[in-house]
Amino acid sequence: MNLDDLETRAREILPRGVYDYYAGGAGDESTVASNRAAWRQVRFRPRVLADVADIDPSVELLGVRLPSPVAVAPTAFHRLAHPEGERATARGAGGRLLIASSLSTVAIEEVVAAASGPVWLQLYVFRDRALSEALVRRAEAAGCTGLCLTVDVPVAGNRERDHRNGFRLPDDVEMANFTGLAQADMPGGAGSGLVHYISSQFDPSLDWSAVSWLRGVTDLPLILKGIQHPDDGRRAVDSGADAVVVSNHGGRQLDGAEATARILPDVVAAVEGRLPVLVDGGLRRGVDVARALALGARAVLVGRPVLWGLATGGADGVAAVLGGLDEGFVRTLALLGSRRARDLGPEALAPLPRPV
Ligand code: FNR
Ligand code: LAC
Repeated sequence: MNLDDLETRAREILPRGVYDYYAGGAGDESTVASNRAAWRQVRFRPRVLADVADIDPSVELLGVRLPSPVAVAPTAFHRLAHPEGERATARGAGGRLLIASSLSTVAIEEVVAAASGPVWLQLYVFRDRALSEALVRRAEAAGCTGLCLTVDVPVAGNRERDHRNGFRLPDDVEMANFTGLAQADMPGGAGSGLVHYISSQFDPSLDWSAVSWLRGVTDLPLILKGIQHPDDGRRAVDSGADAVVVSNHGGRQLDGAEATARILPDVVAAVEGRLPVLVDGGLRRGVDVARALALGARAVLVGRPVLWGLATGGADGVAAVLGGLDEGFVRTLALLGSRRARDLGPEALAPLPRPV
């Protein structure tokens, strides 16, 4: 499956404002583009005659064996793509790791019930900490096995498409984890309702003490998503985080932020194996998954392609997208002469070209 073709089909189906919200990024969308391009610059140095009759694509993450290193990134508002929303996404994820957005249009309890693999809840810290804490308690009770704190949205990115389209949720779609808040905080009128929501609800004064706070509030594994600097990687280790995700939010926050493929090796080096590093942004093929693992990632998250699968085919569409990535990843392992995903490392790569 070619994910660009699938995006074209999704674009034909979805209302303009929804497609633009999903596909878009910040500013000139230069980081959206470079996230993708940078993976292609990572070149392989395959080994041959290595008996690849049996490939094992599984990886271990925080004590759990995942059938595949491909996981579903947290993305907001799935009922804009399909009436079943996040319920369909959870079914389509199969046994893979699913990270459910706190800005879900299906309640976290129902997402966990529909999933057959592990579910982490993604958190934003609200100005009202009690709201975040209540959500943590719900995640624990529902059976989530991790909390993923997104740290790259102190303020909303400059999403010009959403501003132009006056992006907001329609009346029949709500933020199901916070019933009652949605319509009040995404008012009609000019500009993006989401930007208004973020600036009224998210806490811009968030700092590392929020990580300690969350660490004290729950025993669930804590994963920090949005790390883009080796020093923050080290800081994450010291803060008691259990894992980090190298991410620039799919180019939706700071336009001009370096591509994640280029940041990843520095963060991996900085944390010195003390916690697993995940990565997302622009991964569109199984070969990209192999590139990420060879650069030191334990697993990868995929955002927009899941939405294209959901829009075009519901749960089956999501399963087809993820299955296609897995298939490409297994083929890549075979062609690299590498039997096990967990053995992939820098020796599978040619020396990186210097960035232009
Ligand atoms: C996101 N992302 C995101 N991240 C997060 O932590 N919480 C969220 O609610 C959302 N919402 C969201 C909506 C949409 C439409 C997109 C495209 C993205 C960011 C997401 O988790 C991930 O970092 C990127 O999507 C990864 O890049 P790709 O795979 O989309 O290129
Ligand atoms: C986004 C926010 C909701 O990227 O995370 O749209």
